[in-house]
Amino acid sequence: MEIRFLGHACFELIEGDTRVLIDPFLNDNPSAAVGADEVDPTHLFLTHGHGDHFGDIEAIAKRTGAQVVAIKEIADELTEAGFENVVDPNLGGTVTFDWGWVKLTPAWHTSTTPKGQVNVPAGLLVKIGGKTVYHLGDTALFSDLKLVAGRGDPIDVALMCIGGHYTMDRIDAVTAAEFVGATTVIPCHYNTFPPIETDAEAFKADVEAQTSSKVEILQPGETFSP
Ligand code: NI
Ligand code: MN
Repeated sequence: MEIRFLGHACFELIEGDTRVLIDPFLNDNPSAAVGADEVDPTHLFLTHGHGDHFGDIEAIAKRTGAQVVAIKEIADELTEAGFENVVDPNLGGTVTFDWGWVKLTPAWHTSTTPKGQVNVPAGLLVKIGGKTVYHLGDTALFSDLKLVAGRGDPIDVALMCIGGHYTMDRIDAVTAAEFVGATTVIPCHYNTFPPIETDAEAFKADVEAQTSSKVEILQPGETFSP
């Protein structure tokens, strides 16, 4: 299984013919490694409706026919817009595939779609290629991260926001890393815009000094294989 970082909070999880694209904010993303026309996902997962996550999901879903998984209210909005291959779980719900599953977890944040619909944000636990990947979504630090991560197989890779301002900052994220207990933490949601500039190397040093997790800092376009 391969994890490709495409910039901001956008990741592609690749296993065989399965390509799961999460939070496809590409064309308006100053840090994006590729454009929305350069991806070919089989699945599109969303953590929440903010533009820096929702991004190009409609254009990509339309072009590729990829199956979309988003929380009920966002899924309903996409279905009403004419998309047919949409699955609508809610927090705590799991959607299974022939290659694995995705579960929606709580995230402490807000969420509004580009059309103005207010809804509830999520994190995503994904089982793919025998690995458990936890995209925390946009979130503040909260102690139930520990509960979510401790409920099943240990987390192999955590995709974790560290930029502050709109989410937890790199200091709170060290405690989040401790709660999640992943083998590897990949930081995201930083340096895309001035308000979320932060020092990822300092985050790496703190996590590796204070927890048992390792930190892999990926530049947009780089991949990691757990
Ligand atoms: Ni957000
Ligand atoms: Mn965001």
